[in-house]
Amino acid sequence: MTFSMKVLGFLTAAMFMTTGMAIAGPEKDPLKARVPADKRSAAKKDKSPLYKKAKDAPAEIVAEGKALYEGKGTCINCHGKAGDGQGPAGAVLTPGPRDFTNCKFHKKRKDGELMWVIKNGSPGTGMVPLVPATISEEDAWKIIAYERSFCKK
Ligand code: HEC
Repeated sequence: MTFSMKVLGFLTAAMFMTTGMAIAGPEKDPLKARVPADKRSAAKKDKSPLYKKAKDAPAEIVAEGKALYEGKGTCINCHGKAGDGQGPAGAVLTPGPRDFTNCKFHKKRKDGELMWVIKNGSPGTGMVPLVPATISEEDAWKIIAYERSFCKK
């Protein structure tokens, strides 16, 4: 193979990777509340029976949450294995799925607000209600603990 053919091959591969790769649509205002104003204070008070705060949940709860996130819950399809919102099904969605590696997002939300969206969805987006159709409320609390763990700060 001549040098120029190698370069051409490399460029073609690079172009294929760029166009063929799944990149989710941009997130819409991740720091803006999703729970409607009249339901927000009640949602903020909703607490898990499994832990005080999801970010301090015991390791075994986080591990169960991971299994549910990647399995029964199907969250991985949109939110991605790395939690960055780049899952294969999320690629076709606008707005894009939430990027759980964003610590600023986590600081803005109480655990109960995340639960509210998992139960009620975020109207007009690909985030549909998943409790109780897909997972139980207890499953969702476990997944919330795992989602919090994507923020590494
Ligand atoms: C079909 C794709 C899809 C699946 C599956 C999915 N989500 Fe989402 N999710 C989204 C999208 C899109 C958004 C962004 C919605 C918005 O911007 O309002 C989102 C947003 C969220 C949010 C952020 C809510 C907020 O307050 O901003 C949480 C929490 C969430 N999803 C949890 C989950 C959990 C837990 C699962 C699995 C049980 C899951 N999602 C499965 C598409 C999905």
